[in-house]
Amino acid sequence: MKKIFVLFIVCSFMQNNVFAQLIHISTQENSLIFQITKHKKVVQSHYGKFLKNTQGLENMILVYNEAYPSFGNGQNDEVALLVNHDDGSMATDLFYLSHQQKKDDNIQTTVIHLKDEKKAFYVDLYFEAYANENVIEQWVTIHHNEKKEVNLSQFASSAIGFKATNYYLSHFYGSHSKEMMLSEERLTNGIKILETKRGVRTTEYENPSFMLSLDALAQENSGEVIAGALAWSGNFRFSFQVDDKARCQIISGINPFASTYYLPSGEQFETPKMILTYSDKGKNKASINLHRWAKKYNLRAGNELRPIVLNSWEGAYFKFDAVKLKSMMDGAAEMGVEVFVLDDGWFGNKYPRNNAKAGLGDWQVNQKKLPKGLDDLIDYTTSKGMRFGIWVEPEMVNPKSELAKKHPEWILQRQNNRKKLLERNQLLLDLSNPKVQDFVFNVVDNLLKKHPKIAYVKWDANRHIQNFGSTYLSAKKQSHLFINDTRGLENVLKRLEKKYASTIFQACASGGGRVDFGSMKHTHEFWASDDTDPYERLFIQWGTNHIYPPIATAAHVTKSPNHQTKRETSLKFRFDVAMAGRLGMELRPDNLDEEEVEFAKKAIALYKDIRPIVQFGDLYRLLSPYDDDGYAAINYVSRTKKDALLMVYSHTHHRRYERNFVKMQGLDPTLVYKVEEINKDSKKSHISFNNQLVSGEVLMNRGIWINLRKPLQSAIFKITETKPN
Ligand code: DGJ
Repeated sequence: MKKIFVLFIVCSFMQNNVFAQLIHISTQENSLIFQITKHKKVVQSHYGKFLKNTQGLENMILVYNEAYPSFGNGQNDEVALLVNHDDGSMATDLFYLSHQQKKDDNIQTTVIHLKDEKKAFYVDLYFEAYANENVIEQWVTIHHNEKKEVNLSQFASSAIGFKATNYYLSHFYGSHSKEMMLSEERLTNGIKILETKRGVRTTEYENPSFMLSLDALAQENSGEVIAGALAWSGNFRFSFQVDDKARCQIISGINPFASTYYLPSGEQFETPKMILTYSDKGKNKASINLHRWAKKYNLRAGNELRPIVLNSWEGAYFKFDAVKLKSMMDGAAEMGVEVFVLDDGWFGNKYPRNNAKAGLGDWQVNQKKLPKGLDDLIDYTTSKGMRFGIWVEPEMVNPKSELAKKHPEWILQRQNNRKKLLERNQLLLDLSNPKVQDFVFNVVDNLLKKHPKIAYVKWDANRHIQNFGSTYLSAKKQSHLFINDTRGLENVLKRLEKKYASTIFQACASGGGRVDFGSMKHTHEFWASDDTDPYERLFIQWGTNHIYPPIATAAHVTKSPNHQTKRETSLKFRFDVAMAGRLGMELRPDNLDEEEVEFAKKAIALYKDIRPIVQFGDLYRLLSPYDDDGYAAINYVSRTKKDALLMVYSHTHHRRYERNFVKMQGLDPTLVYKVEEINKDSKKSHISFNNQLVSGEVLMNRGIWINLRKPLQSAIFKITETKPN
């Protein structure tokens, strides 16, 4: 039985002398403390290192803004909340009413109730603090009993402040095939905004996450760093305001752009959750906090090992029949692959999906390509000892489809009958419409009901919302579209999660367009990028794994020269990069020669052995691919610290004595480890002490020299605790 410790405190200003009271939200290493002032304002007192003894804090001058600044509160800074009340007034000034705290095992929940000074308008600030993971989730509910509806034009999830001499922001921008590029910059006075307004496939250009370091540029293992990410798969906006008092205030939440929200009396608006963590040991610790938290609380089956997948896309694209697919399955099974995933192109009859121009929306098996249907393929896959997976893109429709003709009203369209803008020849269904939600749910539900052996669903989404307009929403409520579309998707994913608890779901959106904690809550993994070139992937995975865990990062070995970049790389290099995430393949096995098949077989067997370390262990970033010296290195350490993996990559030419020196991290300095080079493609080792014993102290503090000098060369080492004789 779970040990439940419940602490329940209710405070109210009906009682006397409780002014300048503190509300302490804490994890093992972090404290977020609010002060209730004598004017009944709730103001942040501290966010940072855990404070055991807060004595004196309540008497200190407050340097930060209110916990939830609203327009009309008498300050002219960025606000979290802007409301037009029922009488048209725009002022909101929130005051403390009461708060409650309770602790349930690892999670401390706090709610602070605020009320407008004049109106029956309420905001509740929620915090869930995860003790072991040092993560605090923050969100807000807004409700009122005003006579008529109000409209909300700003409604952030979180507002937090810092005071330091300098602020450095790390964030992740990109484009198709270049997602999660790391940018690091010093914030100067003014406001820096990170946002997206694209509605769907939102994370391709800017990810809803950041790291902010205080005083100095973020280092991996030192300095104060705050990491944040919004659990929302739609438009987001983070503002970082550095003001004349050298404070930095971060306001984060749904992007209010074109999203005025009408809230009737008695109803509630709930914001998505902002995930926050603080580290005083640099960026890497912040990443570990987020990864551990996600695996336990924000990723489907985060405690289950992920299977090795072979996806048909880069091997077959749209050109396949059952014979070709079965030959791919043969090859996949021979190499030890565990799931065969049939990608795009298997559906549509009147408008067959033979390219990206037609068929989306018509989710019936293409009789010409696959006359014996899906079961024939599924049975073949299972007869080979693998599971079967399938690709869908159920939010979308090609104009050339039966669905588009049958339900034109389900398609998002620009108002006043303007021309519909195509992207990849397709249009978007209106997920704000419950009927469309049902349709989208049924696409997957019908497939899984009809073919219960489908074990994996790849859910793709290949366009943004440019045709802004819904025939379902009233003229006035068009501004609900961005929000309700995202909620509609969430709703469908939740229903599927409930009904198909053991089916694996991958979030994909033209590669890494859905890499966010919002969709991750209902999926098992994400496709990080359509760029499968291992050199490029070093950067993409480096950025992605700052925030999101490697267990969820699908990384596939593809053909050389790479289809996207034409770069040639060895099969070993491709495996060594893909093994740093959830390993998979995406090629035609019969294009590999015998030697390559043998190598792939061994690499896959090896990954099965090391995957608990990659998927459940902690990731340490050692050498950044962004540094000038042409190396990248990471290591993984199991939670017991008895097993580790060191992965080192050279991506340029090096002179003999250049800095290919690596100091590992996260090991137990008191243990002795055997260091064994694995996944080798020659007899030689890249270290002089292969298979020998080295102490954790030496591996971490003295460091080791690795003989990697050529471009696109790599080496992986298994580090295993071993008792010296
Ligand atoms: C975009 C995805 O990112 C690819 O992996 C592939 O599934 C294609 N769509 C299929 O159209």
